[in-house]
Amino acid sequence: MLVTTFLAASLGLACSIFANAAGTGVVTVPMKALVRPEHQNAISLTKRYLQRRSSTSTSSLKSVAQDVMYTVTLGIGTPPQLFNLAIDTGSPITWVVNKTCSGDSCADIFNRFDCLSSPTCKSSPNSGILNASYVSGDGVVGDYVTDIFSLGSLSFSSLAGIVNSYNAQLPPTVDGIMGLWYTIRQYKKIPSNAAFLNVLKDSDALTQPLVGIWLDETNSTSLTTPGGEITFGGVDPSRFTGGITYVDCDPSAPWTIPVGSVSVNGKKIAVTSALATIDTGTSAMLLPEVVSDAINSAIPRSVKLTESADGIVWIIPCEGDTPVSFTFGNFTATIPYHIFAIQNIRYKDIETGALYCASSAMFATGSVSVISNWLLGDTLIKNVYTVFDFGTNAETGGRVGFAELTNKSSTIVNKVTTGGANIEVDEPIGLSKDRGNGASGGFLVPYTTQALALASTVVFALI
Ligand SMILES: *[C@@H]1O[C@H](CO)[C@@H](O)[C@H](O)[C@H]1NC(C)=O
Ligand SMILES: *[C@@H]1O[C@H](CO)[C@@H](O)[C@H](O)[C@H]1NC(C)=O
Ligand SMILES: *[C@@H]1O[C@H](CO)[C@@H](O)[C@H](O)[C@H]1NC(C)=O
Ligand SMILES: *[C@@H]1O[C@H](CO)[C@@H](O)[C@H](O)[C@H]1NC(C)=O
Ligand SMILES: *[C@@H]1O[C@H](CO)[C@@H](O)[C@H](O)[C@H]1NC(C)=O
Repeated sequence: MLVTTFLAASLGLACSIFANAAGTGVVTVPMKALVRPEHQNAISLTKRYLQRRSSTSTSSLKSVAQDVMYTVTLGIGTPPQLFNLAIDTGSPITWVVNKTCSGDSCADIFNRFDCLSSPTCKSSPNSGILNASYVSGDGVVGDYVTDIFSLGSLSFSSLAGIVNSYNAQLPPTVDGIMGLWYTIRQYKKIPSNAAFLNVLKDSDALTQPLVGIWLDETNSTSLTTPGGEITFGGVDPSRFTGGITYVDCDPSAPWTIPVGSVSVNGKKIAVTSALATIDTGTSAMLLPEVVSDAINSAIPRSVKLTESADGIVWIIPCEGDTPVSFTFGNFTATIPYHIFAIQNIRYKDIETGALYCASSAMFATGSVSVISNWLLGDTLIKNVYTVFDFGTNAETGGRVGFAELTNKSSTIVNKVTTGGANIEVDEPIGLSKDRGNGASGGFLVPYTTQALALASTVVFALI
């Protein structure tokens, strides 16, 4: 039934495009079809016609606040109203905030959408209401409109969520979310045409049904540092070396693949078979607590702060040389220590002065939802070139490809960030007197809970 919905949507789109193509004079189709029987089908001819006009577009990304999120510019409407949207392979909906959205949190969003000033903006009542809840506990409610999206050199009509009630905590300069699911089935409350990768695929607008992503590692507290690039319709061969190793997606959830193994400093951690969503909308990673414990326990001088006011958090020394690797199929992605230890969430041992950082291997607590699949986010993705392929095995969810980054040798060293490059934490709000794992002293804890540590990263995967 779900697949039917998609086929219907796809057919509708193909038909309307064919009508346009016919209107522009492609009426000699049946004659050619006589000569070349394989081209008898008018729709396939239309697709061939469109493919010649299809395109590939690369946009630069910005890193927000030391890689908490990565954003791209999207224009919506005529003329395009520009938004700085976080790219999110963990959710389907692209949303921005209504110009007239009232309330304090809406006011924090700088760029807001005005449907009235775009003649191409049409409400989409058949799509139902926008009501998206994210793993982080963030949520937005609003309506859907259709309008023209301008994305790099691409221009296409798509569905946008317009938020009227905003209960999310995006970092400053981020205006909303760009949902990059490719979906093979209908998820609750999500309109079948909400995922614009599906729209692009169904209309053959792209040269190839691929999205290639390079997330740069930045070292700046600036809210808008150049931070990589995203290519729609292909890959950027200048950003990776060697071949791309693909892993088929599990059909149960978009951009979700089996995890082969996890290693800390080359030594395998015992993990049972797991599925992981490769999620650009998650800053670090969200794992089951038992897996988080296993990984963190294997890192020298790690501490599980269990006695802080109201939560639990794994911290690890900010400096170290223990890489953490995840293997998918035949590809191993290695996270160098200085990335795995999140440099902008710092704790201080008040007896020794040693600095500890939040570990990337987090688990759900507080308002953060426990979910069945692991979420592997930017701390993993920025060490590889990643390809989201919705052409091969598209009927079962496509596949995710990984390749080695160009110039990787210069970036994958155990660099250590010290000094003033970090976001200064607010006043300490808790003090743990207990010791874990042999570490000495009490900890001056800037964020007492894992939930708060998670809140200063982001988890924008749809529940
Ligand atoms: C949105 O969804 C949540 C969770 O399902 C529900 O509690 C809430 O009432 C919904 N909001 C609206 C406006 O429908
Ligand atoms: C934006 O807000 C205005 C004022 O509340 C409302 O009339 C309009 O329908 C909203 N637009 C959308 C797309 O929800
Ligand atoms: C790789 O490094 C070389 C030499 O430093 C540089 O010229 C080139 O632009 C780099 N390539 C990329 C993709 O960063
Ligand atoms: C790894 O590569 C080999 C040879 O190319 C292939 O036969 C095998 O199926 C691959 N394994 C996985 C898990 O993808
Ligand atoms: C980050 O920047 C600081 C200050 O400029 C510098 O000391 C440090 O080495 C840099 N870290 C990395 C990993 O490049």
